[in-house]
Amino acid sequence: MNETPIEQWADAIEARAAGRVVQVYRETSSTQDQARALIASRPSGADGALIVAAHQTAGRGRLGRKWHSPAGTALTFSMIYRVDHATLDRVTFAASVALAEALDKVMIDTAYVTAIKWPNDIYIEGRKIAGILVEVVDGFAIVGLGINVHLRQDQLPEPIAGRATSLAMCGVSADRLAVLLSILERMDNSLGERSEPSLLEGWRTKCKMFEHDVRLKHDGQIIEGRVIDLDPLRGLKVLTGRGDVVHLPAATTTVLDYPV
Ligand code: BTN
Repeated sequence: MNETPIEQWADAIEARAAGRVVQVYRETSSTQDQARALIASRPSGADGALIVAAHQTAGRGRLGRKWHSPAGTALTFSMIYRVDHATLDRVTFAASVALAEALDKVMIDTAYVTAIKWPNDIYIEGRKIAGILVEVVDGFAIVGLGINVHLRQDQLPEPIAGRATSLAMCGVSADRLAVLLSILERMDNSLGERSEPSLLEGWRTKCKMFEHDVRLKHDGQIIEGRVIDLDPLRGLKVLTGRGDVVHLPAATTTVLDYPV
């Protein structure tokens, strides 16, 4: 399949996202950095802005991790939304649900279905296909999405060789621009039309951790227990094997074993 050339991405996105600032880079350090620069230099145009890169040289993930994507293999972009305490959750649920549903649609002719791994990673059969990084800057949420599209097994370095997947590895040859437009459409619908409880319900339906046994690392300690409540931002509520109930925030917790 021939992908839409990068020179055509900006016009195609602008046609669907009238009035928004759209920046498309062949290569940049991180779309999160470009988003921060836009907020600093032009806050009046930042709400709704979209920064896309065909390749990132210093992509980052949650908890200070690197986000590995060899050139040309991933769809990487950041969306900016003005938020307050009440709307930050909404934007985050909407992004996870929009991403999971858009990938399900792309894979409709396969047997694969996505699952959300708390707080907002997207998995297929135990391997990560996409991640979301939310950073809050000066009243704006920068929602960065990275999706493995053309990545092949032989391009995965050893530590993550068995832990990552891609649309290509699921047998789907996809156009990165088409995947991006599909996510944007769902994101706009979710933010415009769905109530917060409905978004949270969509997120919980896709997140299979509720009432499951998990193994977690929190502040350097291993915790085993059963998830008795979960929230993508405020954290997991876990009943530990010793009978304690603990709340574990996303910022300091990594899920080690989990059913996806
Ligand atoms: C994670 O898996 O921990 C989150 C990964 C988020 C990666 C995306 S790619 C676009 C945006 N720019 C970045 O540097 N990171 C996010």
